[in-house]
Amino acid sequence: MSESSRDSITGLIHHPYQPPAGFDAPQVGVFKASTVIFKDTKALRARDWRHRDGYTYGLHGTPTTFTLEERIATLEGGLQCVLVPSGLAAVAIVDFALLRPGDEVLLPNNVYGPSRELARNELKEFGVSFRLYDPMDAAALAAMIGPQTKLVWLEAAGSVTMEFPDLAGLAAAAKARGVLTALDNTWGAGIAFKPFELGIDIVMQALTKFPSGGGDVLMGSVTTRDNALHERIKLTHMRMGWGVADWCCARCRPSPCATTPTTPRRARWRPGWRRGRRSRACCTRRWKARRAMHTGRPPAHRPPACSR
Ligand SMILES: Cc1ncc(COP(=O)(O)O)c(C=O)c1O
Repeated sequence: MSESSRDSITGLIHHPYQPPAGFDAPQVGVFKASTVIFKDTKALRARDWRHRDGYTYGLHGTPTTFTLEERIATLEGGLQCVLVPSGLAAVAIVDFALLRPGDEVLLPNNVYGPSRELARNELKEFGVSFRLYDPMDAAALAAMIGPQTKLVWLEAAGSVTMEFPDLAGLAAAAKARGVLTALDNTWGAGIAFKPFELGIDIVMQALTKFPSGGGDVLMGSVTTRDNALHERIKLTHMRMGWGVADWCCARCRPSPCATTPTTPRRARWRPGWRRGRRSRACCTRRWKARRAMHTGRPPAHRPPACSR
């Protein structure tokens, strides 16, 4: 390549044209980049990828990902959020950030299947053990927690059985023994109830489901309220290199009222809730099920923040 053609290519990349500042729209802009440009070497050396006050590398944040992280944190009632490439990756990053060889993690017996498979395979091979607990019995969970237990997973409603546990009771049982709790809030989607108000430490969601809704996005989020906890997850995120596609962020509208290219999010979430209530009624009627724990049960069976 001749010098002059190389100069002209460089000139195209570092083009003098700057679009006017101040463009604003309801949709968040899609910024896609691996390398970001620093003003000078001093700025490069001073970079700090842990915080959202600047950009360091595409994997660690762009205006698009930072904006979605902030919105999900607000929706969940948390303070910080990290995006990952899928809901299962959100489960995995919590496990990898918080568990070390010799530790134990407790999972509800109706946990999302692939979360259990992760514990049964990779975690076991890394020296982390797991046991299943009955999510409908907080006292039994309390009795299971031992010195090795470092993390208790919660899920509400539980995958497939749709049992709705006493989240506050389970979180209190873990907290009393100094053990962290992490909730898979995919079903609640940040709309059904406010997990941090129930004493939960970490909340993840498969954004693949309600927040995106179009069937074309795979993404997950991990939200916290504690800076030290967030930093542990963020550090693991950086070391794992789990970036997300910026266009997926743009298709993900965390606000319950904001529209996706298809339907408002609350409108997508409500039919699922109603179907759950209908199947509860149907099971009770047809098979005389002794108990059906979907949140459609009377308020006494729901966590307090779930009564609307
Ligand atoms: C409760 C729950 N958690 C996590 C996931 C994982 O999400 P993803 O498919 O984005 O990995 C799912 C997906 O079905 C889910 O239902």
